[in-house]
Amino acid sequence: MLNWMDSLKGRSLMRMTSFTDEEMLNLIDLAAQLKARRHAGVRGDLLRRKQIALIFEKSSTRTRNSSQIAARDEGGDAEYLTRPDIHFGKKESVKDTARVLGRIYDGILFRGFSQKTCEELQEWSGVPVWNGLTDAYHPTQILADLLTIKETFGSLKDVTVAYVGDGRNNVANSLMMGCAKAGVRYVCCAPASLRPDDAVLAEAEEVAKRNGVDVRVFEDPVQGVKGANVLYTDVWVSMGEEDKTAERIKLLKPYQINMDLMRATGNIDGKLMFLHCLPAFHDFNTDVTKESGALEVTDEVFESKYSKVFDESENRMHTIKALFVSALCDRASI
Ligand code: CP
Ligand code: NVA
Repeated sequence: MLNWMDSLKGRSLMRMTSFTDEEMLNLIDLAAQLKARRHAGVRGDLLRRKQIALIFEKSSTRTRNSSQIAARDEGGDAEYLTRPDIHFGKKESVKDTARVLGRIYDGILFRGFSQKTCEELQEWSGVPVWNGLTDAYHPTQILADLLTIKETFGSLKDVTVAYVGDGRNNVANSLMMGCAKAGVRYVCCAPASLRPDDAVLAEAEEVAKRNGVDVRVFEDPVQGVKGANVLYTDVWVSMGEEDKTAERIKLLKPYQINMDLMRATGNIDGKLMFLHCLPAFHDFNTDVTKESGALEVTDEVFESKYSKVFDESENRMHTIKALFVSALCDRASI
């Protein structure tokens, strides 16, 4: 028996605050149920005849494939549309494209640069729109992160997440709010120039307070990670910022997650895990790291028993499926 909230029917996800705390937690539970169902070999029809447009302005491995397979697993389908494929924002405005695609598809997942584009799609398409990453937010990622923490530790209670690196990027912004909503303590370790934006931080602090936890920001990563149960990092240069590569590598080198930093949590023999949204520069095997070696995380940590990055990555599919099912499925439960 799968249960979801009627209130999620037809809903869009622009950012973590699009759902109430309860709706967010419920969605994570639904994803866990859908995961168990898939692992039991069930390929159902909860999304039968549902058609989803995937508009991608930026590259993706996880979000694209998770969305396509989530839809197909349950009898629906998803069409991958990149900028060169459609007139989007060039020969045709976002508003017109939204109105065209909204009459063809049952939902739209968007990955791109501007948060405003995502919101315009939502405003004009008339169908649910899910934010699959913009420069500002990455909410579908954080649903998977919270599911991974919950299934690894058994609960989201009494957990401290320390995010180390670029503290004001899309993942960091959404993770900070996701933790606040889930009642998870959040610590951001970042250099002064990359600390969270004041308004984004203030909003998360208010939500955290309501849920009995706090949000803290440290410049010194060794100080900041003390007592943390989850060390989380992301790339130092997000998509669209490639011109900043050299300066970021210099600035963020002291923020690399290595075994010394894992030990600095004081939890090396206890409740501790490493998470990364991926892709990660942890070895010499990419174009970027051929010469530099590991950047935001060492191979030792990435390949260690603490690392849950592939559970996290798998959970992208189950959580995206939960979003699609809760918004589009015609049945209240099965
Ligand atoms: N974590 C994540 O969003 O990965 P992709 O860029 O591969 O979709
Ligand atoms: N902050 C990264 C996340 C990638 C999933 C980026 O925007 O490139």
